[in-house]
Amino acid sequence: MSKTSRVFQLARRPDGAPVADDFKLAEVPLPPLEAGQVKVRNRWLSVDPYMRLSLTTLKGVHAPTEIGGELDGGAVGEVVESRSDRLPVGAHVFSPLKGWRDLYVADAGQVAPVDADLGPLSAYLGVLGLSGMTAYAGLEFVLQPKAGETIFVSGAAGAVGMVVCQLAKRRGCRVIGSTGDPAKARLLGELGVEATINYRTDDLRARLRAFAPDGIDMYFDNVGGSHLEAAIDSMKIFGRLALCGAVELYNSGNYRQGPGNLFAAIEKGLTLTGFNIGLFAARRGEMMADLAGMLKSGELRVEETIVDGLENTAKAFIDLLAGANTGKMVIRV
Ligand SMILES: NC(=O)c1ccc[n+]([C@@H]2O[C@H](COP(=O)([O-])OP(=O)(O)OC[C@H]3O[C@@H](n4cnc5c(N)ncnc54)[C@H](OP(=O)(O)O)[C@@H]3O)[C@@H](O)[C@H]2O)c1
Repeated sequence: MSKTSRVFQLARRPDGAPVADDFKLAEVPLPPLEAGQVKVRNRWLSVDPYMRLSLTTLKGVHAPTEIGGELDGGAVGEVVESRSDRLPVGAHVFSPLKGWRDLYVADAGQVAPVDADLGPLSAYLGVLGLSGMTAYAGLEFVLQPKAGETIFVSGAAGAVGMVVCQLAKRRGCRVIGSTGDPAKARLLGELGVEATINYRTDDLRARLRAFAPDGIDMYFDNVGGSHLEAAIDSMKIFGRLALCGAVELYNSGNYRQGPGNLFAAIEKGLTLTGFNIGLFAARRGEMMADLAGMLKSGELRVEETIVDGLENTAKAFIDLLAGANTGKMVIRV
C-alpha cells in the first residue's frame, strides 16, 4: 500500500491567466492510518473556476493558498484502507477538499459516502454536486421563475449554466444563453434554449435587445463584469438577478470588483441576490432528490469534458478558464 501521495502544489501566484509553471506536482508522505480514519484513492477530480480565487491574495470565502501549499477541491474516490466502522474498504466517498491528488488520509467524518445508484461517480462533482446544486438553488430558490418569463443565462454551456438552462425550460421560461463558442451554442439549441449569444463575436446589449425587446425578467450571472453590466441595462422594471459567479473577473487581479452601472438597480427596482451554495446546505436533500430524479428519467441532459490522468489536472484547470469545457470538466485519475 502506497505511503506517499502525488499532489499539486502552488509553485507561484499566477499573474493573469494561470500557466503550467504556476503549479507543481509533488510526492508527499501519507500519515499512517489512525483509528476512525480511512485512506482514499481518488477516481475523479473536479476543476472549477472558483479555484482561481484562492490563487490570489484577496481574502474572502476562498482563503488564499500559500506558495508551496497544496491545492484543494472536490474529489470522488474509493476507500482502499479503513480503520472506520462507518466506511469499509471499497466504499465510494466524496471530499470537498481532497482533490488535486491521487491518495489521501482523512477522518471518516470528513468524507461523505456517495450512492452509485443515483448516478455515475463523476456526477457527484457536477450535476449531483456543486454545479447542479448551485444551478438549482440559484434558479429555484433565488430567482423563483414563472412560466412565460424570459431568463438570460451567462456561461450557459458550462457545468452550472447547462443545468440552469434546462431547469428554466422545465419551468416554462424562454431562455437566452451566452457562450463564447459556436459549437456550444448549437448544443444549447438542442436543449431548447431559444436564443444564444456569442459574447466573443456579438454585441451583447444589441443581441439582448433583439431577443427581448421588452427586457429580460431574470438574469443568472455566471460571468460578472461586462455581462452583468449588459444584463443590468437589459432588465425589465423589478427584474431579478441571481449573482452566482464572475468568471470574467477571475484572472483580472480583482475578482471582487462590482458593476459600473449599479445605479440602474435603483432606477428599475431590480433585485440583485448574491448567493453561494453553502448558504443552501440545509436544502441539499431536496435539491438532490429532484436532480437525481431528472437525471434518471433522462429529463436532464448532462455533458462532461473528461481529461485523463492526475498529471493533467493543472492543464485542465487552465483550459477550463479558457473555455475548453462543455458542461462539467472532470479529471479521471
Ligand atoms: N455561488 C456559488 O456557490 C458557485 C458555485 C459553483 C460555481 N459558481 C460560479 O459559477 C460560474 C460557472 O461555474 P462552472 O463550474 O459552471 O464553470 P463552467 O461554466 O463550466 O466553466 C467556465 C466557463 O466560463 C466561460 N468563460 C471563461 N472566461 C470567460 C469570460 N471572460 N467571459 C465569459 N465567459 C467566460 C467559458 O465558457 P465559454 O466557452 O462559453 O466562454 C468556460 O467554459 C463561475 O463563475 C463559478 O465561480 C458559483
